[in-house]
Amino acid sequence: MNTLLRIDSSLRLEDSHSRRMGDYFVKQWNIKHPDGAVIQRDTTRQSTPHLTQQTFDAFLDENLFSEDLLLSDQLIGELYQSSEILITCPMYNYGIPSSLKAYFDLVIRTKKTFVSENGIKGLLSDKKAHIISVMGGIHSIPGGMNPLETHLTSILNLMGIRDITYFPLEGTAIPDQLSEKTELLETSIIKHLN
Ligand SMILES: Cc1cc2nc3c(=O)[nH]c(=O)nc-3n(C[C@H](O)[C@H](O)[C@H](O)COP(=O)(O)O)c2cc1C
Repeated sequence: MNTLLRIDSSLRLEDSHSRRMGDYFVKQWNIKHPDGAVIQRDTTRQSTPHLTQQTFDAFLDENLFSEDLLLSDQLIGELYQSSEILITCPMYNYGIPSSLKAYFDLVIRTKKTFVSENGIKGLLSDKKAHIISVMGGIHSIPGGMNPLETHLTSILNLMGIRDITYFPLEGTAIPDQLSEKTELLETSIIKHLN
């Protein structure tokens, strides 16, 4: 069965462009996969603590315990359960939301999502990922990635995920052409899923 893990991270629970585009993606994905399952993870609504030394030490030594280890196990379990991952990501102060970074700090874990043997090898190479990146200004260089895509691609590659599609929406603070850009993005989502 196809399972989509949707990870939202906008601090806005209403009127969020990234959440709206995520809703649109999931609607189209459900049409393509009527028997598919969607797992929802939300780094704003659900507690996503920062990585602490206690937790990091417990990542490396199975005799040590940290309460956040249980959350880390749960988040990694959701990744393994999924065949596809959708990340909706706004830009805050030139980067990804701190809660989304905290999420990745909890799932990038040796022997769980990657191993170090003659270099780093990611363990999630059978997954596909989709990144919806949204920002108020324009940050990509023509033909290149925007900074959110660059960062998220490095993180996903570390876990072995290389099959990644990109759906950027830049310039949400510039009302001119925003509805046109949104429609174009919706079209590219439909094309990708068909
Ligand atoms: C705290 C904060 C920081 C932001 N920093 C940036 C930024 O560095 N560059 C940018 O282009 N837009 C920035 N924005 C604008 C958001 O990226 C933009 O409003 C986007 O649409 C937010 O996603 P959302 O609509 O899904 O909430 C910032 C917004 C907030 C709330």
